[in-house]
Amino acid sequence: MADQSGNKDAKSFATDIPVATDGYFLKGSCHYDWGMQDRLSRIFRPDTGKTVMLAFDHGYIMGPTSGLERMDLQVVPLAEHCDVLMCTRGALRTCIPPTFNKPVCLRVSAGATILRELSDELVGVAIDDAIRCNASAMAVQVYVGAEYEHKSIGNLCKVADTGMRHGIPTLGVTAVGKEMARDSRYLGLATRLLGELGAQFVKTYYCEPGFDKVAAGCPVPIVIAGGKKLPEIEALTMAYKAIDQGASGVDMGRNIFQADNPIAMLKAVMSIVHEGAKAEEALDMYNTLKNE
Ligand code: 5RP
Repeated sequence: MADQSGNKDAKSFATDIPVATDGYFLKGSCHYDWGMQDRLSRIFRPDTGKTVMLAFDHGYIMGPTSGLERMDLQVVPLAEHCDVLMCTRGALRTCIPPTFNKPVCLRVSAGATILRELSDELVGVAIDDAIRCNASAMAVQVYVGAEYEHKSIGNLCKVADTGMRHGIPTLGVTAVGKEMARDSRYLGLATRLLGELGAQFVKTYYCEPGFDKVAAGCPVPIVIAGGKKLPEIEALTMAYKAIDQGASGVDMGRNIFQADNPIAMLKAVMSIVHEGAKAEEALDMYNTLKNE
């Protein structure tokens, strides 16, 4: 209990050492409140400033994607090896035990499928349910230049507003329609736009040439999607180049869970993102782990 008298004099004020007011480690994120920064520090590792997110939200538009037919069998063994789980609330509640203590980036946009116009989405998860899922971030797809561009930008703005109210970061996902070129001009426009509209971090595709300019022109951290399954060396090279040119991490799905050995692939990607391994070194690691 606190006493009024007989206490040692307080003297460790270190008056010659100013309180550190250094910025927060993450690009564009130094003016947020504590809860927002705490959640961002769960997504991006403070020691490296980077992240390896495992994306397995494909089912919300594609149904039972190859490699995700049985998420309880195929995703659960991977969960401990990534930094963040990115998924729908259905996948989370039905397949992921709540004992991993991994941050969750919850897919909150919904409303379209591969059978119809993909850009016609809405916000499909209420904030109280995102909080019940203990989401560390909420992901919204934005279709810049597509038929429902206006609506999908509105979705991002709404989620970013709600996220700000509750200290939950928003991941803006630059969705590229079939007819759009994945070049630096388009991706530079889309990523910049999402950062300016309030996304705390942005997911996009790697492109060349010019990814360095896409990353530099975006005021918030960028993570790259992997896209369709590539040979392992190509996926690892893409991850290496993206990090080398300014990405703060990856949010990969098919190139992980469709690999011959998904855990080995995840570890190889981790070594690139957090340890600066070159693509060839990561491939050696992949092959060694695969053959063990
Ligand atoms: C869908 C997404 C997916 O999460 C994403 O595309 C990630 O996976 P992949 O690496 O398989 O492309 O955001 O729009």
